[in-house]
Amino acid sequence: MKANVRQLNLFPTIERGQLEGKYSSLIKERLDFRSFLGFRLNKAEPIFRWFRFKEAFSGRLVEEILTNEWKLPPDSLIFDPFAGCGTTLLTCQQSGYPAIGIDILPIAVFASKVKLHAEYDLDELRRTADELRSKPFSSTGKSFPRIRIIDLALPQEAQEKLLFYREQISNIQEPSIRDFLMLGLLTSIEEASYTSKDGQFLRLVERPPQSVEAIFESKLEEMLADLNKLDGTKQGSKTQIFLGDARRLPIQALRYKGKVSGIITSPPYLNRYDYSRTYALELCLLYNEQGEPWVKDFEGLKNIRHSLLRSHIESSPTPTNSVKVPALEEVLNCLELKQLNNPRIPIMIEGYFEDMNLATREMAKMLKPGGLVALVVDNVRFEGELIPVDLILCEIAAKHKLKALEVRVTRYKGNSSQQMGRYGRVPVRESIVFWQKEIPGGNDDLS
Ligand SMILES: C[S@@+](CC[C@H](N)C(=O)[O-])C[C@H]1O[C@@H](n2cnc3c(N)ncnc32)[C@H](O)[C@@H]1O
Repeated sequence: MKANVRQLNLFPTIERGQLEGKYSSLIKERLDFRSFLGFRLNKAEPIFRWFRFKEAFSGRLVEEILTNEWKLPPDSLIFDPFAGCGTTLLTCQQSGYPAIGIDILPIAVFASKVKLHAEYDLDELRRTADELRSKPFSSTGKSFPRIRIIDLALPQEAQEKLLFYREQISNIQEPSIRDFLMLGLLTSIEEASYTSKDGQFLRLVERPPQSVEAIFESKLEEMLADLNKLDGTKQGSKTQIFLGDARRLPIQALRYKGKVSGIITSPPYLNRYDYSRTYALELCLLYNEQGEPWVKDFEGLKNIRHSLLRSHIESSPTPTNSVKVPALEEVLNCLELKQLNNPRIPIMIEGYFEDMNLATREMAKMLKPGGLVALVVDNVRFEGELIPVDLILCEIAAKHKLKALEVRVTRYKGNSSQQMGRYGRVPVRESIVFWQKEIPGGNDDLS
Protein backbone atom coordinates (compact mmCIF):
# COMPACT_ATOMS: atom_id res chain seq x y z
CA MET A 1 0.00 0.00 0.00
CA LYS A 2 2.71 2.48 1.04
CA ALA A 3 4.80 1.71 -2.06
CA ASN A 4 1.78 2.26 -4.34
CA VAL A 5 1.00 5.64 -2.85
CA ARG A 6 4.60 6.70 -3.39
CA GLN A 7 4.70 5.38 -6.94
CA LEU A 8 1.54 7.28 -7.82
CA ASN A 9 3.08 10.40 -6.30
CA LEU A 10 -0.05 11.14 -4.33
CA PHE A 11 1.65 13.10 -1.59
CA PRO A 12 0.26 16.59 -1.82
CA THR A 13 2.47 19.67 -1.81
CA ILE A 14 -0.39 22.15 -2.30
CA GLU A 15 0.05 23.97 1.03
CA ARG A 16 3.81 24.17 0.62
CA GLY A 17 3.35 25.42 -2.95
CA GLN A 18 1.01 28.14 -1.70
CA LEU A 19 3.47 29.12 0.99
CA GLU A 20 6.28 29.45 -1.57
CA GLY A 21 3.94 31.60 -3.68
CA LYS A 22 3.00 33.79 -0.73
CA TYR A 23 6.64 34.61 0.09
CA SER A 24 8.11 34.45 -3.44
CA SER A 25 8.64 38.21 -3.67
CA LEU A 26 10.66 38.16 -0.42
CA ILE A 27 12.96 35.27 -1.36
CA LYS A 28 16.27 36.77 -2.47
CA GLU A 29 19.35 34.84 -3.50
CA ARG A 30 22.56 36.09 -1.85
CA LEU A 31 24.99 33.22 -2.21
CA ASP A 32 27.84 35.62 -1.36
CA PHE A 33 26.62 35.34 2.27
CA ARG A 34 27.45 31.64 2.33
CA SER A 35 31.04 32.26 3.49
CA PHE A 36 29.75 34.22 6.52
CA LEU A 37 27.98 31.13 7.90
CA GLY A 38 29.92 28.51 9.85
CA PHE A 39 32.89 28.88 12.20
CA ARG A 40 35.58 29.03 9.47
CA LEU A 41 36.15 32.80 9.38
CA ASN A 42 36.33 32.96 13.19
CA LYS A 43 39.38 30.67 13.21
CA ALA A 44 41.60 33.54 12.15
CA GLU A 45 40.07 36.10 14.50
CA PRO A 46 41.60 36.85 17.92
CA ILE A 47 39.27 35.84 20.78
CA PHE A 48 36.58 34.54 18.39
CA ARG A 49 38.85 31.49 17.93
CA TRP A 50 39.19 30.63 21.64
CA PHE A 51 36.65 27.82 21.58
CA ARG A 52 35.83 25.98 18.37
CA PHE A 53 32.05 25.88 18.21
CA LYS A 54 31.43 24.49 14.81
CA GLU A 55 27.73 25.37 14.75
CA ALA A 56 28.58 29.09 15.03
CA PHE A 57 28.31 31.73 12.37
CA SER A 58 31.07 34.27 11.83
CA GLY A 59 31.56 37.69 13.38
CA ARG A 60 31.61 39.00 9.79
CA LEU A 61 27.95 38.06 9.38
CA VAL A 62 26.95 40.03 12.47
CA GLU A 63 29.09 42.98 11.43
CA GLU A 64 27.61 43.01 7.94
CA ILE A 65 24.02 43.02 9.21
CA LEU A 66 24.57 45.41 12.14
CA THR A 67 26.79 48.03 10.63
CA ASN A 68 26.28 47.80 6.88
CA GLU A 69 22.59 46.97 6.69
CA TRP A 70 20.70 47.95 9.82
CA LYS A 71 22.95 50.90 10.71
CA LEU A 72 21.41 51.12 14.18
CA PRO A 73 22.41 54.00 16.48
CA PRO A 74 25.36 53.04 18.76
CA ASP A 75 23.38 52.57 21.99
CA SER A 76 20.89 50.10 20.41
CA LEU A 77 20.49 46.93 22.48
CA ILE A 78 21.09 43.65 20.65
CA PHE A 79 19.86 40.24 21.80
CA ASP A 80 20.79 36.66 20.92
CA PRO A 81 18.53 33.99 22.47
CA PHE A 82 20.65 31.11 21.04
CA ALA A 83 24.01 32.71 21.76
CA GLY A 84 26.27 29.63 21.31
CA CYS A 85 29.91 30.64 21.71
CA GLY A 86 28.94 34.31 21.80
CA THR A 87 29.65 35.46 18.22
CA THR A 88 26.85 38.03 18.15
CA LEU A 89 27.75 39.32 21.61
CA LEU A 90 31.48 39.58 20.93
CA THR A 91 30.91 41.40 17.65
CA CYS A 92 28.57 43.80 19.44
CA GLN A 93 31.18 44.36 22.15
CA GLN A 94 33.76 45.24 19.52
CA SER A 95 31.38 47.43 17.51
CA GLY A 96 30.12 49.35 20.54
CA TYR A 97 26.60 47.91 20.81
CA PRO A 98 25.33 46.75 24.22
CA ALA A 99 24.15 43.15 24.00
CA ILE A 100 22.63 40.31 25.99
CA GLY A 101 22.54 36.62 25.21
CA ILE A 102 21.03 33.36 26.43
CA ASP A 103 22.06 29.79 25.89
CA ILE A 104 20.97 26.60 27.57
CA LEU A 105 24.23 24.69 27.09
CA PRO A 106 26.61 25.29 30.03
CA ILE A 107 29.75 24.96 27.92
CA ALA A 108 28.47 27.57 25.41
CA VAL A 109 27.67 30.02 28.20
CA PHE A 110 31.05 29.44 29.85
CA ALA A 111 33.02 29.95 26.61
CA SER A 112 31.05 33.12 25.83
CA LYS A 113 31.58 34.49 29.33
CA VAL A 114 35.36 34.06 29.16
CA LYS A 115 35.54 35.58 25.66
CA LEU A 116 33.46 38.56 26.73
CA HIS A 117 35.38 39.30 29.94
CA ALA A 118 36.50 42.88 29.44
CA GLU A 119 39.66 43.26 31.45
CA TYR A 120 42.45 40.82 32.26
CA ASP A 121 45.51 41.39 34.44
CA LEU A 122 47.91 40.12 31.79
CA ASP A 123 50.99 39.87 34.04
CA GLU A 124 49.10 37.91 36.68
CA LEU A 125 47.52 35.72 34.02
CA ARG A 126 50.87 34.84 32.48
CA ARG A 127 52.46 34.23 35.89
CA THR A 128 49.64 31.88 36.95
CA ALA A 129 49.71 30.09 33.58
CA ASP A 130 53.48 29.51 33.86
CA GLU A 131 53.12 28.26 37.43
CA LEU A 132 50.37 25.86 36.37
CA ARG A 133 52.39 24.47 33.49
CA SER A 134 55.43 23.87 35.68
CA LYS A 135 53.51 21.84 38.32
CA PRO A 136 54.58 18.17 38.38
CA PHE A 137 51.73 15.81 37.60
CA SER A 138 50.16 13.80 40.40
CA SER A 139 47.02 11.74 40.32
CA THR A 140 43.92 13.42 41.82
CA GLY A 141 42.18 10.16 42.71
CA LYS A 142 39.14 11.55 40.88
CA SER A 143 37.60 10.17 37.71
CA PHE A 144 35.40 11.23 34.83
CA PRO A 145 31.75 10.19 34.97
CA ARG A 146 31.25 6.61 33.79
CA ILE A 147 29.85 7.42 30.38
CA ARG A 148 30.74 5.19 27.42
CA ILE A 149 32.04 7.99 25.19
CA ILE A 150 34.64 9.04 27.77
CA ASP A 151 36.60 5.78 27.66
CA LEU A 152 36.25 5.54 23.89
CA ALA A 153 37.42 9.10 23.37
CA LEU A 154 40.09 9.70 25.97
CA PRO A 155 43.12 7.53 26.77
CA GLN A 156 43.42 6.87 30.52
CA GLU A 157 46.53 9.04 30.75
CA ALA A 158 44.75 11.98 29.09
CA GLN A 159 41.82 11.62 31.50
CA GLU A 160 44.16 11.78 34.49
CA LYS A 161 46.06 14.80 33.15
CA LEU A 162 42.83 16.69 32.38
CA LEU A 163 41.55 16.00 35.90
CA PHE A 164 44.89 17.08 37.37
CA TYR A 165 44.81 20.43 35.55
CA ARG A 166 41.16 20.95 36.44
CA GLU A 167 41.98 20.39 40.11
CA GLN A 168 44.85 22.89 39.99
CA ILE A 169 42.77 25.46 38.12
CA SER A 170 39.80 25.16 40.46
CA ASN A 171 42.09 26.17 43.37
CA ILE A 172 42.86 29.55 41.73
CA GLN A 173 41.10 32.34 43.64
CA GLU A 174 40.77 35.06 40.98
CA PRO A 175 37.67 34.08 38.90
CA SER A 176 38.75 35.71 35.61
CA ILE A 177 42.13 33.93 35.68
CA ARG A 178 40.59 30.64 36.76
CA ASP A 179 37.98 30.76 33.98
CA PHE A 180 40.50 31.80 31.32
CA LEU A 181 42.74 28.82 32.15
CA MET A 182 39.75 26.48 32.34
CA LEU A 183 38.66 27.53 28.84
CA GLY A 184 42.20 26.82 27.63
CA LEU A 185 41.89 23.31 29.07
CA LEU A 186 38.40 22.72 27.68
CA THR A 187 39.43 23.84 24.24
CA SER A 188 42.30 21.32 24.32
CA ILE A 189 40.11 18.25 24.81
CA GLU A 190 39.21 17.55 21.20
CA GLU A 191 42.83 17.30 20.05
CA ALA A 192 43.79 15.28 23.13
CA SER A 193 41.11 12.71 22.22
CA TYR A 194 40.21 10.18 19.55
CA THR A 195 37.28 12.35 18.49
CA SER A 196 36.48 14.98 15.93
CA LYS A 197 33.53 17.33 15.81
CA ASP A 198 33.58 17.43 12.02
CA GLY A 199 30.54 15.32 11.33
CA GLN A 200 26.99 15.71 12.51
CA PHE A 201 27.92 14.13 15.84
CA LEU A 202 31.09 13.56 17.78
CA ARG A 203 33.02 11.18 15.52
CA LEU A 204 35.67 8.67 16.63
CA VAL A 205 38.83 9.05 14.55
CA GLU A 206 41.98 6.98 14.09
CA ARG A 207 44.59 9.74 14.50
CA PRO A 208 46.73 9.57 17.64
CA PRO A 209 45.69 12.13 20.27
CA GLN A 210 48.13 14.89 21.17
CA SER A 211 49.49 15.01 24.70
CA VAL A 212 47.36 17.09 27.08
CA GLU A 213 50.39 19.17 28.16
CA ALA A 214 51.41 20.02 24.60
CA ILE A 215 48.00 20.99 23.33
CA PHE A 216 47.09 22.89 26.53
CA GLU A 217 50.37 24.82 26.26
CA SER A 218 49.76 25.81 22.65
CA LYS A 219 46.10 26.81 23.24
CA LEU A 220 47.11 28.98 26.20
CA GLU A 221 49.85 30.62 24.15
CA GLU A 222 47.37 31.42 21.39
CA MET A 223 44.88 32.90 23.86
CA LEU A 224 47.55 34.93 25.66
CA ALA A 225 48.89 36.23 22.35
CA ASP A 226 45.41 37.49 21.47
CA LEU A 227 45.17 39.34 24.78
CA ASN A 228 48.69 40.70 24.40
CA LYS A 229 47.67 42.38 21.16
CA LEU A 230 44.89 44.12 23.09
CA ASP A 231 47.03 44.72 26.15
CA GLY A 232 44.57 42.74 28.26
CA THR A 233 41.79 45.30 27.96
CA LYS A 234 39.03 44.94 25.46
CA GLN A 235 37.42 48.31 25.00
CA GLY A 236 33.80 48.11 24.05
CA SER A 237 30.20 48.04 25.07
CA LYS A 238 28.59 46.18 27.95
CA THR A 239 27.65 42.60 27.10
CA GLN A 240 26.10 39.88 29.24
CA ILE A 241 25.44 36.18 28.78
CA PHE A 242 23.03 34.10 30.88
CA LEU A 243 22.27 30.42 31.17
CA GLY A 244 18.63 30.08 30.23
CA ASP A 245 15.96 28.78 27.95
CA ALA A 246 14.97 30.74 24.84
CA ARG A 247 11.44 29.32 25.19
CA ARG A 248 10.95 30.86 28.66
CA LEU A 249 13.42 33.66 29.09
CA PRO A 250 15.03 34.05 32.50
CA ILE A 251 14.36 37.12 34.60
CA GLN A 252 17.80 38.61 33.82
CA ALA A 253 16.80 38.83 30.15
CA LEU A 254 13.18 39.87 30.76
CA ARG A 255 14.49 43.01 32.47
CA TYR A 256 15.14 44.24 28.92
CA LYS A 257 11.67 43.38 27.64
CA GLY A 258 10.56 45.86 24.95
CA LYS A 259 14.01 47.48 24.81
CA VAL A 260 15.77 45.40 22.18
CA SER A 261 16.47 47.00 18.78
CA GLY A 262 17.86 43.96 17.01
CA ILE A 263 18.15 40.18 17.32
CA ILE A 264 20.84 38.32 15.38
CA THR A 265 20.64 34.62 16.07
CA SER A 266 20.62 31.07 14.83
CA PRO A 267 18.53 28.39 16.56
CA PRO A 268 19.57 24.73 16.35
CA TYR A 269 18.81 23.37 12.87
CA LEU A 270 16.12 20.73 12.60
CA ASN A 271 17.65 17.23 12.88
CA ARG A 272 21.26 18.36 12.66
CA TYR A 273 23.14 18.37 15.93
CA ASP A 274 22.61 17.06 19.40
CA TYR A 275 24.81 19.51 21.30
CA SER A 276 24.87 17.30 24.38
CA ARG A 277 26.64 14.64 22.29
CA THR A 278 28.99 16.93 20.37
CA TYR A 279 30.16 18.64 23.56
CA ALA A 280 29.87 15.61 25.89
CA LEU A 281 33.59 15.56 26.76
CA GLU A 282 33.72 19.25 27.63
CA LEU A 283 30.46 19.00 29.62
CA CYS A 284 31.97 16.14 31.66
CA LEU A 285 35.02 18.23 32.60
CA LEU A 286 33.35 21.59 33.23
CA TYR A 287 32.55 22.71 36.77
CA ASN A 288 29.52 24.84 37.63
CA GLU A 289 29.69 28.00 39.76
CA GLN A 290 29.54 25.90 42.94
CA GLY A 291 32.67 23.99 41.89
CA GLU A 292 30.70 20.82 41.08
CA PRO A 293 30.87 19.00 37.74
CA TRP A 294 27.93 19.85 35.43
CA VAL A 295 27.63 16.21 34.47
CA LYS A 296 28.14 13.54 37.13
CA ASP A 297 26.68 10.56 35.28
CA PHE A 298 24.79 9.56 32.15
CA GLU A 299 21.55 10.80 33.70
CA GLY A 300 23.09 14.27 34.02
CA LEU A 301 24.01 14.30 30.34
CA LYS A 302 20.53 13.10 29.41
CA ASN A 303 18.99 15.93 31.44
CA ILE A 304 20.96 18.44 29.38
CA ARG A 305 19.91 16.61 26.18
CA HIS A 306 16.25 16.86 27.13
CA SER A 307 16.54 20.52 28.08
CA LEU A 308 17.62 21.50 24.54
CA LEU A 309 15.28 22.79 21.88
CA ARG A 310 13.55 19.77 20.34
CA SER A 311 15.65 19.72 17.18
CA HIS A 312 16.99 16.21 17.53
CA ILE A 313 15.58 12.72 17.49
CA GLU A 314 15.83 12.03 21.23
CA SER A 315 13.93 15.21 22.06
CA SER A 316 11.53 15.32 24.93
CA PRO A 317 8.69 15.94 25.87
CA THR A 318 6.10 14.67 23.40
CA PRO A 319 4.51 17.47 21.34
CA THR A 320 1.00 18.69 22.02
CA ASN A 321 -0.06 19.66 18.49
CA SER A 322 -0.21 23.32 19.42
CA VAL A 323 1.18 24.90 16.23
CA LYS A 324 -1.28 25.11 13.36
CA VAL A 325 0.41 25.96 10.08
CA PRO A 326 -1.21 24.21 7.07
CA ALA A 327 2.12 23.51 5.32
CA LEU A 328 3.42 21.85 8.49
CA GLU A 329 0.29 19.74 8.85
CA GLU A 330 0.68 18.70 5.22
CA VAL A 331 4.26 17.53 5.87
CA LEU A 332 3.18 15.56 8.95
CA ASN A 333 0.26 13.94 7.09
CA CYS A 334 2.55 12.89 4.25
CA LEU A 335 5.14 11.46 6.62
CA GLU A 336 2.47 9.42 8.37
CA LEU A 337 2.01 7.44 5.16
CA LYS A 338 5.70 6.78 4.67
CA GLN A 339 8.12 4.19 5.89
CA LEU A 340 10.50 6.29 7.99
CA ASN A 341 13.93 5.11 9.00
CA ASN A 342 13.15 6.48 12.46
CA PRO A 343 9.56 6.56 13.75
CA ARG A 344 10.38 9.56 15.98
CA ILE A 345 10.93 11.93 13.03
CA PRO A 346 7.36 13.39 13.05
CA ILE A 347 7.53 13.85 16.85
CA MET A 348 10.80 15.76 16.46
CA ILE A 349 9.42 17.95 13.67
CA GLU A 350 6.29 18.83 15.63
CA GLY A 351 8.29 19.49 18.81
CA TYR A 352 10.72 21.70 16.89
CA PHE A 353 8.04 24.04 15.64
CA GLU A 354 6.30 24.11 19.02
CA ASP A 355 9.58 25.18 20.61
CA MET A 356 10.32 27.71 17.88
CA ASN A 357 6.83 29.11 18.39
CA LEU A 358 7.65 29.70 22.08
CA ALA A 359 11.08 31.14 21.29
CA THR A 360 9.62 33.47 18.64
CA ARG A 361 7.00 34.68 21.12
CA GLU A 362 9.81 35.51 23.56
CA MET A 363 11.82 37.31 20.86
CA ALA A 364 8.78 39.40 19.96
CA LYS A 365 8.34 40.27 23.66
CA MET A 366 11.92 41.52 23.90
CA LEU A 367 11.78 43.75 20.81
CA LYS A 368 10.84 47.40 20.63
CA PRO A 369 8.18 48.25 18.06
CA GLY A 370 10.05 48.38 14.74
CA GLY A 371 12.82 46.14 16.17
CA LEU A 372 14.57 43.86 13.68
CA VAL A 373 15.39 40.14 13.60
CA ALA A 374 17.91 38.19 11.50
CA LEU A 375 17.60 34.44 12.05
CA VAL A 376 19.74 31.84 10.28
CA VAL A 377 17.89 28.59 9.47
CA ASP A 378 18.12 25.55 7.34
CA ASN A 379 15.41 23.69 5.41
CA VAL A 380 15.40 19.93 5.47
CA ARG A 381 13.93 16.91 3.70
CA PHE A 382 12.80 13.58 5.13
CA GLU A 383 11.89 10.68 2.85
CA GLY A 384 11.46 13.09 -0.02
CA GLU A 385 9.23 15.48 1.96
CA LEU A 386 10.65 18.96 1.86
CA ILE A 387 10.12 21.07 5.00
CA PRO A 388 10.34 24.80 4.28
CA VAL A 389 11.52 25.63 7.81
CA ASP A 390 12.26 29.26 6.83
CA LEU A 391 8.73 29.93 5.55
CA ILE A 392 6.93 27.99 8.29
CA LEU A 393 8.85 30.14 10.79
CA CYS A 394 7.72 33.26 8.90
CA GLU A 395 4.11 32.08 9.38
CA ILE A 396 4.74 31.51 13.09
CA ALA A 397 6.45 34.91 13.40
CA ALA A 398 3.45 36.64 11.84
CA LYS A 399 1.28 35.29 14.68
CA HIS A 400 3.58 37.18 17.07
CA LYS A 401 3.38 40.40 15.07
CA LEU A 402 6.73 39.93 13.39
CA LYS A 403 6.44 40.78 9.74
CA ALA A 404 8.69 39.02 7.20
CA LEU A 405 10.90 41.45 5.29
CA GLU A 406 13.19 39.07 3.42
CA VAL A 407 14.14 35.41 3.12
CA ARG A 408 17.78 35.59 2.07
CA VAL A 409 18.99 32.36 0.49
CA THR A 410 22.65 31.81 1.26
CA ARG A 411 23.03 28.26 -0.05
CA TYR A 412 21.25 25.45 -1.84
CA LYS A 413 22.09 22.00 -0.59
CA GLY A 414 21.54 18.69 -2.31
CA ASN A 415 20.60 15.79 -0.16
CA SER A 416 21.94 12.39 0.66
CA SER A 417 22.84 10.41 -2.46
CA GLN A 418 20.28 7.83 -1.38
CA GLN A 419 17.47 10.41 -1.33
CA MET A 420 18.62 12.02 -4.57
CA GLY A 421 18.44 8.63 -6.26
CA ARG A 422 14.88 8.13 -5.06
CA TYR A 423 13.39 11.58 -5.36
CA GLY A 424 15.59 13.47 -7.79
CA ARG A 425 17.71 16.47 -7.02
CA VAL A 426 15.59 19.13 -5.30
CA PRO A 427 17.89 21.61 -3.61
CA VAL A 428 17.20 22.64 -0.03
CA ARG A 429 17.66 26.24 1.12
CA GLU A 430 19.80 27.56 3.95
CA SER A 431 18.57 31.07 4.61
CA ILE A 432 18.55 34.12 6.83
CA VAL A 433 15.02 35.29 7.55
CA PHE A 434 14.54 38.96 8.37
CA TRP A 435 11.54 40.09 10.39
CA GLN A 436 10.39 43.36 11.89
CA LYS A 437 8.15 43.89 14.90
CA GLU A 438 5.00 45.74 14.00
CA ILE A 439 4.61 49.34 15.13
CA PRO A 440 1.16 49.75 16.74
CA GLY A 441 -0.89 52.12 14.59
CA GLY A 442 2.09 52.47 12.28
CA ASN A 443 2.34 52.17 8.54
CA ASP A 444 1.54 48.61 7.49
CA ASP A 445 4.51 48.59 5.15
CA LEU A 446 7.42 48.21 7.53
CA SER A 447 10.06 47.55 4.93
C1 LIG B 1 23.35 27.19 15.96
S1 LIG B 1 23.87 27.34 17.61
C2 LIG B 1 24.13 29.07 17.78
C3 LIG B 1 25.53 29.46 17.42
C4 LIG B 1 25.82 30.95 17.60
N1 LIG B 1 25.16 31.73 16.58
C5 LIG B 1 27.32 31.20 17.53
O1 LIG B 1 27.77 31.87 16.63
O2 LIG B 1 28.02 30.63 18.38
C6 LIG B 1 22.40 27.08 18.51
C7 LIG B 1 22.54 27.23 20.00
O3 LIG B 1 21.24 27.06 20.59
C8 LIG B 1 21.44 26.53 21.89
N2 LIG B 1 20.15 26.03 22.40
C9 LIG B 1 19.55 24.85 22.20
N3 LIG B 1 18.38 24.81 22.85
C10 LIG B 1 18.23 26.00 23.48
C11 LIG B 1 17.22 26.58 24.30
N4 LIG B 1 16.10 25.91 24.61
N5 LIG B 1 17.40 27.83 24.76
C12 LIG B 1 18.54 28.53 24.47
N6 LIG B 1 19.52 28.03 23.72
C13 LIG B 1 19.37 26.78 23.21
C14 LIG B 1 22.51 25.49 21.68
O4 LIG B 1 23.14 25.19 22.91
C15 LIG B 1 23.44 26.20 20.69
O5 LIG B 1 24.45 26.87 21.37
